[in-house]
Amino acid sequence: MNNTLLTPIKSSEIRPAIAKLQTQLVHWRRKLHQYPELGFKEVLTADFIAEKLNDWGIEYQTSIAKTGIVATIKSHHQGKVLAIRADMDALPIQEENEVSYCSKHDGLMHACGHDGHTAIALGIAYYLAHNRDKFQGIVKIIFQPAEEGPGGAKPIIEAGVLQNPEVDAIIGLHLWNNLPLGTIGVREGALMAAVECFKCEILGKGGHGAIPNQTIDSIVVGSHIVNALQTIVSRNISPIDSAVVTVGTFHSGTALNVIADTAKISGTVRYFNPTLEKYIGERIEAIISGICQSHGAKYKLDYWQLYPPVINHPRITQLVKSVALEIVETPLGVVPECQTMGGEDMSFFLQEIPGCYFFLGSANAQKGLDYPHHHPRFDFDETALSLGVEIFARCVEKFTNF
Ligand code: NI
Repeated sequence: MNNTLLTPIKSSEIRPAIAKLQTQLVHWRRKLHQYPELGFKEVLTADFIAEKLNDWGIEYQTSIAKTGIVATIKSHHQGKVLAIRADMDALPIQEENEVSYCSKHDGLMHACGHDGHTAIALGIAYYLAHNRDKFQGIVKIIFQPAEEGPGGAKPIIEAGVLQNPEVDAIIGLHLWNNLPLGTIGVREGALMAAVECFKCEILGKGGHGAIPNQTIDSIVVGSHIVNALQTIVSRNISPIDSAVVTVGTFHSGTALNVIADTAKISGTVRYFNPTLEKYIGERIEAIISGICQSHGAKYKLDYWQLYPPVINHPRITQLVKSVALEIVETPLGVVPECQTMGGEDMSFFLQEIPGCYFFLGSANAQKGLDYPHHHPRFDFDETALSLGVEIFARCVEKFTNF
């Protein structure tokens, strides 16, 4: 992984214009950071965005999928329609950073960088609104609520944000503390995993701990299930594919001399390959069903998909990659090995239209800005904000003729 900071390799009017925005970007980001709001409750956040869009004479719609906003910026020239997506929501985490812009909402924190995403989206809105002669076509900026769950992407798509005018492609970024500032994680195909979840209740027959022969021990049945689930990844999935089956909870029993009547197990499933969509869930049910049957137990199983995998389109990925190569010092600054088994509801947009989601390196270990996402001390190097705007600006500039 390359640790060097950015230096431009191509002179462009874009960089100096956006460099002037850096102070504002930091100001907006810190303001948003102080007032974090959970998914579908981003009311102050939406008001803040709307106020800026108003000031800049940008056409927009509010209250889409509850708290979402879509801004439409038309250039002075004919061209295609590109959407830029930013998420707005925060997390139920008590901030432990001691900074002047610390969260003022008790128990809530922008611990994933979505305050930065919103600031970057405002930055590109400002830039485009003031440079309508410098690009072609139309740019739609989608401020999406509730990425952290239950997921705002699906409802905002259903509300029609990809129509009127019809969007040709979509791009979006995540500030990424797993990558150092000055690197950009972009890859064709799967970037982030599908997220599926399960909850299972094993229905045995309780009894005296000393007389097991009169019972169906739900803990023993559950233990067999937890062990057997490990064979899905190791023995059912092709070793070329990546997948995870994690049992996250196992609750059962009330006393050391009582055989438990029921046991509850829950977990999460991750994979990149979309053809595995039904398969892992089916394997989980087959294992649970078979083990329960062999022990005389019954079961109830809930299995559902939260998000499909984030799959980047080859052509739009090429666009982002070409821009990334212009921005970072060497090709080594563009990191293709940036896949994660984390999930993202950007995937729903990418199922609808071609697009590319990418990671913008934001960690700076020297400044102590390298805590992981969702950590109470998460923070990032704000230099990444103007880089984000610059990447979007250059993508917009190239998109129509790419
Ligand atoms: Ni996030």
